[in-house]
Amino acid sequence: MPSRPRSLDSSIGTKLLVGFTGFLLFLYLILHIGGNVMVFLGPDTFNGYSDLLLSNPLIIPIEIGLVMIFLVHIYKTVAMTLDNRRARPVKYARKKSAGAPSRKSVASSTMIVSGLWLLLFIVIHVRTFKFGPEYETASGVRDLYRLEMENFSDPITVVFYLISMLVVGSHLWHGASSALQSLGIDSQTWTPRILLSGKVAAVLIAGGFIVITVWAFSQGART
Ligand code: HEM
Repeated sequence: MPSRPRSLDSSIGTKLLVGFTGFLLFLYLILHIGGNVMVFLGPDTFNGYSDLLLSNPLIIPIEIGLVMIFLVHIYKTVAMTLDNRRARPVKYARKKSAGAPSRKSVASSTMIVSGLWLLLFIVIHVRTFKFGPEYETASGVRDLYRLEMENFSDPITVVFYLISMLVVGSHLWHGASSALQSLGIDSQTWTPRILLSGKVAAVLIAGGFIVITVWAFSQGART
């Protein structure tokens, strides 16, 4: 009997890891948008909240964990894509939706492209905010509000963020169903509900960040 290719044997573990790390990153984004909407409450509340968060001694281990999760997610998805390409070196002549019950869609076929865009976005984003200028408020805490307003007063940054937020939305939109499939969850009752929640969360997260970006730009335009 012919033996199964090695890539097929390891692909289940890989998919589980991709699904699990993707789910953790999704949870991070829910917390991240939750914290960032504080910007609407003004500089004192926003800076006070971020100072409370950043001065927590658990922040360093959490950040290290986040980086590890990112690296595993990226490494495993790229390896999985290359493996799939090797297994099917000739591309399909036409790419189109496979129709129900398959969840193949424009987003699913572009996961690797949207993922790589997000990698570029995160490098630029973390450099801009985390490692950006260390402005201080009169009370001696980091003035992230000023940094955010300054960055979003630049139309090129705003356009880059708006495109990236649409890419985040697309990635999360499909990511939820992709993770469910990878984790083997297929319940008649729960699958549609989880899928719907994933899609609603994708729209709320991307939409929330878009509103913040446009609002911050409009604040800059007013001064
Ligand atoms: C309008 C959109 C966004 C705004 C205004 C925003 C704002 C911020 C700010 C102010 C920080 C600095 C916090 C610190 O000093 O640690 C930060 C960090 C970060 N952001 Fe965002 N963010 C946005 C979207 C995103 C998105 C879409 C992602 C992921 C896809 C993301 C991932 C991260 C990561 C990984 C960090 C570093 C966290 C850490 O090391 O503590 N952000 N963001």
